[in-house]
Amino acid sequence: MRACQQRVNARLWAAVGSPSAGYSDGTLSEAMTYACAGSGKRIRPLLAYASALAVGGSIERADAAATAVELIHCYSLVHDDLPAMDDDDLRRGKPTVHKAFDEATAILVGDALQALAFELVAASGNGVGPEQRLGMVSCLASAAGAQGMVGGQALDFAAVGEQQSVEQLQQMHNLKTGALIRAAVSLGALSHAATSPAQLAALDDYAAKLGLAFQVRDDILDEISDTATLGKPQGSDSSANKPTYLSLLGLDAARAKAEELAAEAVEALNDFDDRATPLRQLAQYIVARLH
Ligand code: IPE
Ligand code: IPE
Ligand code: MG
Ligand code: MG
Ligand code: MG
Repeated sequence: MRACQQRVNARLWAAVGSPSAGYSDGTLSEAMTYACAGSGKRIRPLLAYASALAVGGSIERADAAATAVELIHCYSLVHDDLPAMDDDDLRRGKPTVHKAFDEATAILVGDALQALAFELVAASGNGVGPEQRLGMVSCLASAAGAQGMVGGQALDFAAVGEQQSVEQLQQMHNLKTGALIRAAVSLGALSHAATSPAQLAALDDYAAKLGLAFQVRDDILDEISDTATLGKPQGSDSSANKPTYLSLLGLDAARAKAEELAAEAVEALNDFDDRATPLRQLAQYIVARLH
């Protein structure tokens, strides 16, 4: 995990932070770097790398996929924290971008990180062919947009203070968090030209289960953890009146649900050999993590 985290950190730095990235506005560039730094776990890049390995691909060819999904994720966090959204002041152990800079800069940082993600995938060298890249761009676009993460954020926003069914909650979670996790896994596999449709389908089954498990665990941690460990404000969901797995089902049922989903995710990998071990381990990690 550590090697892959360091690897993607270096690529993020090359894309947003290094002088050779060549951005004209110093503040925007500084804020983009700020948004990508900090104590992020880099789960989505780890999933992209692990998925590439599971299908017999290589870490090198998955670099653009790994970096791009993290850029979209970082952008989503910057916008998620804005006063008009969750209005949170702390992220990854530091003041949120709109606090450290200002709201206009935070909006522009998100816009710029999103565009940069697509630039990286479209240009991805390392032997990833043009047709593969097109498939990856299309996959990332639908995961990020109104049919994916942004659509889920809209449902989240509309749900504040509302009574929701478990099905509605699940749909919101699948979109706001699951879509990008599925894209991370698909993009990693798509970076390897020989991945079969059957492998892609099994991996997507794994990722769909895991994406939901990830958000259930996020909801649990909002309740049981503390601000210092999380690096973001504990209790943000309940103080904003957000429907979560806990508010609907209670802590024990939420824990059981996360465990069950992780087990189902691992089961979806039954046809994979030992090369899928990192994916299996990530599933366990995601529901046991403490931040
Ligand atoms: C937090 O994601 C936002 C959600 C989608 C639940 P992470 O828990 O992956 O945040 P970082 O990247 O580690 O900070
Ligand atoms: C965020 O969900 C999902 C995104 C698309 C960013 P949350 O609002 O629960 O994420 P945190 O808890 O602020 O990290
Ligand atoms: Mg939110
Ligand atoms: Mg939030
Ligand atoms: Mg949360």
